[in-house]
Amino acid sequence: MEKTLVLIKPDAFRKHYSGDIIKHYENEGLKILAMKLMKMDEKIASKHYAEHIGRPYYDDLMGFMTSGPIIAMVLEGEDAIANVRRINGKTNPAEADEGTIRKLYAESGSRNAVHASDSPESAAREIAIFFNASEILD
Ligand code: CDP
Ligand code: MG
Repeated sequence: MEKTLVLIKPDAFRKHYSGDIIKHYENEGLKILAMKLMKMDEKIASKHYAEHIGRPYYDDLMGFMTSGPIIAMVLEGEDAIANVRRINGKTNPAEADEGTIRKLYAESGSRNAVHASDSPESAAREIAIFFNASEILD
């Protein structure tokens, strides 16, 4: 079993898509181990997106991710990391497969509804940014 970090980004939360998005993961057999409604500050956002520092879209990404509430979740399942990224769809909704969360709910390649970890190393690093061990119910 694998764990992954998912964020419902401010665009999707603002548009009341959270319930629909969570349903996609539960319908695919993923188990929720932790969940938190919160607002990211600059410090958490820059830690989470550290690998993107210096990219042309970085400042916009920081402003967007701190613009309103998000939901952070730890999901568990078989091949959860790859599986959740498949369920989310490609970064840009214009390129995402039909039925994926980003195809259904994302506005654009930057306001794209959800985040998910991309490797076991990222998952471990990102989960620790948002949750203490005692908040993960496994
Ligand atoms: O989120 P994902 O792993 O699919 O994509 P990424 O390439 O790791 O980029 C992280 C996030 O930065 C994206 O989800 C977008 O919100 C944002 N981004 C952007 O605004 N413009 C880009 N050209 C690339 C990424
Ligand atoms: Mg990424």
